[in-house]
Amino acid sequence: VQQEEPANCDGRARRVLLFPLPFQGHINPMLQLADVLHGRGLAVTILHTGFNALDPALHPEFTFVPVPDGIPADVAASGSIISIILAMNAAMEASGAVRDVLASVLADDGQPPAACLFIDANLLAVQKAAAALGLPTLVLRTGSAACFSCFLAYPMLHENGYLPPKEAELYTPVKQLPPLRVRDLFLSSSNNHEMVRKVLARATETVRNSSGLVINTFDALETAELERIRGELDVAVVLAAGPLHMLSARSTGSTLLSEDRSCIEWLDAQATGSVLYVSFGSLASMDAGELSEVAWGLANSGQPFLWVVRRDLVRGSQHGSDLPEGFDRAVEGRGKVIRWAPQQEVLAHPAVGGFWTHNGWNSTLESIAQGLPMICRPQFADQMMNTRYVEAAWGIGFELEGELERGKIEKAIRKLMEEKQGEVMREKAKELKEKVVSCLGSGGSSLLAVDKLIDHILSLHG
Ligand code: UDX
Repeated sequence: VQQEEPANCDGRARRVLLFPLPFQGHINPMLQLADVLHGRGLAVTILHTGFNALDPALHPEFTFVPVPDGIPADVAASGSIISIILAMNAAMEASGAVRDVLASVLADDGQPPAACLFIDANLLAVQKAAAALGLPTLVLRTGSAACFSCFLAYPMLHENGYLPPKEAELYTPVKQLPPLRVRDLFLSSSNNHEMVRKVLARATETVRNSSGLVINTFDALETAELERIRGELDVAVVLAAGPLHMLSARSTGSTLLSEDRSCIEWLDAQATGSVLYVSFGSLASMDAGELSEVAWGLANSGQPFLWVVRRDLVRGSQHGSDLPEGFDRAVEGRGKVIRWAPQQEVLAHPAVGGFWTHNGWNSTLESIAQGLPMICRPQFADQMMNTRYVEAAWGIGFELEGELERGKIEKAIRKLMEEKQGEVMREKAKELKEKVVSCLGSGGSSLLAVDKLIDHILSLHG
């Protein structure tokens, strides 16, 4: 993507502030957006919490400002994202610390004047602090357009009895939101319905209060969903400016764990399209029995694979997710296990021919951008919905449903990597990749969205 001369308004360079939610799947797209804006000549200041704090050394081109998050230690340790989001917002609203930090950032004469603040949709407290200082906010939605459209529809889904979900109706189609079924709705499997409802209502409120919404998707992928959102929202701009990782000049640099780059050399030695890449993202977990089934499913499939086993992948594991006895020997030369991958580089490697994923939105988009078909194993949040779109809307993968069992896993891997059905999905994935290429090319929808975004940012402050 072409870099342009610094944007000036009345002869002054502008600055944008960005504040991600402190989770990997939210940090990555926000820093990619920061990179895109920096590439267009804007100065960038990143605000970040102490919880999952970012490393400023990874981005010397940005200014980093820590903000006290007030998350109680027991909530931080709980691992419950919903609880962390609510606790963080409550603490920020009570303490006034964000407002103080923002005020001092805005008063910094050594920096160009700030045009606006980009926030994650889950940071309503930050938006309130910004509003009190007269600073406009824009929201980055790090999930799909379908996901945000579902947030908007949440009251309707309750009124129509789809939610809370009833066991007997999980496969009932939600006729207002095709191709979703009840089980695909955001967090429909969670027991904390009231908390979820509150978090989604707050996220929607944040977007409605904002001066613009940027979604990490592209027009051709979610045309109807974007139209639905534009029809329902009354905010200045709704822009589909993704996949952000493809627009951003650097694909890595915001990862909380250190990447094991030895896998790239290993991939270099594998045949084109032969390797299944397996990763369940930054938060999903399994029990020791499931890990063992995955391990033996991979071993018995006979396929080359690269598998990310995070140290905390296995729930309650004291030893950092140990693999079963005999597994290393069984897969010697054919399988590689690492703790964290340079995922975007892995997916772009010619040796990789398929992705077994949990369907976090970033992983899903990264797979689409490389034209890779998927085996889908969603766990929570928007993952079920992303799986449904992969399978039923785009035809580029299939769900591995029910209990994890080695025979079933082996069959699924063969289906994706060796059989006709997998071949059809691969072809469709390649067609979708072509659409990614067009949206990023000259006159492409995402590139135009970034142009509009820059114009909009420059129009915000006189
Ligand atoms: C979470 C939720 O699970 C997801 O549903 C929501 O859309 C975003 O927040 P996460 O589990 O982190 O996401 O998954 P995902 O959205 O796929 O993001 C993971 C990111 O980590 C991706 O950008 C991926 O490239 C990166 N990653 C993953 C690595 O860099 N290395 C790895 O080994 C695994």
